[in-house]
Amino acid sequence: MRIDILSVLPQIVEGPLSESIIKRANDKGLAKIYVHNIRDYSLKKHKNTDDYPYGGGAGMVMTIEPIARCLDKLIEERDYDEIIFMTPDGETLNQGMVNTLSLNKNIIILAGHYKGIDERVRDHYITKEISIGDYVLTGGELPAAILADAIIRIIPGVIGDETSALSDSFQDGLLSPPVYTRPFEYKGMKVPDVLLSGDDKKVDSWRHEQAIMRTKQRRPDLFSKWDEEDE
Ligand code: ADE
Repeated sequence: MRIDILSVLPQIVEGPLSESIIKRANDKGLAKIYVHNIRDYSLKKHKNTDDYPYGGGAGMVMTIEPIARCLDKLIEERDYDEIIFMTPDGETLNQGMVNTLSLNKNIIILAGHYKGIDERVRDHYITKEISIGDYVLTGGELPAAILADAIIRIIPGVIGDETSALSDSFQDGLLSPPVYTRPFEYKGMKVPDVLLSGDDKKVDSWRHEQAIMRTKQRRPDLFSKWDEEDE
């Protein structure tokens, strides 16, 4: 899979995507990430990428020209399945959306900044608008990195343990059960006996029960959805 990310602050996007698992996925060619600096596509003398809003008001607006020039160049080179704009007024991201997006071959993620982007970019290029939650950040760079991370980690081969990504919280609509490691006892706090029983079936059913209990307690909204689907 190929992910192109457009931003005026590429270093913020690159940071979280240049470490650990995501870096390894990129190095192995499982997910190629290309970060483009929108400034490089500005035709202005000082490489400006924003301007005052028509009609007045506070804040600056990202101009269409550098974004369109960068997008046109990419679109000319290959077909893209989605051109995504990260924005607080987009559809709220969830695991189902991540799973669907991870099946694509090429996607573009556009990170906004300042007060927003010229609406004509959204009208003419964007195929999907995504929010990472009901709060506002200073820009779309971290949301773009978060989306890329969530997509890349479920690509087969990215996480060492093949079953690991699929058994995560949310993958089956349930939160994950508790996990323990050595020592068996720490200052009187013990690991549940069932995990040391060596009985895989017992362990699986304990984990499933715990997952259901956790979801009921912490995320009843998720649980009711899971319960309906299961019937
Ligand atoms: N840009 C600023 N805040 C955002 C959010 N919550 N989701 C996506 N993009 C954003």
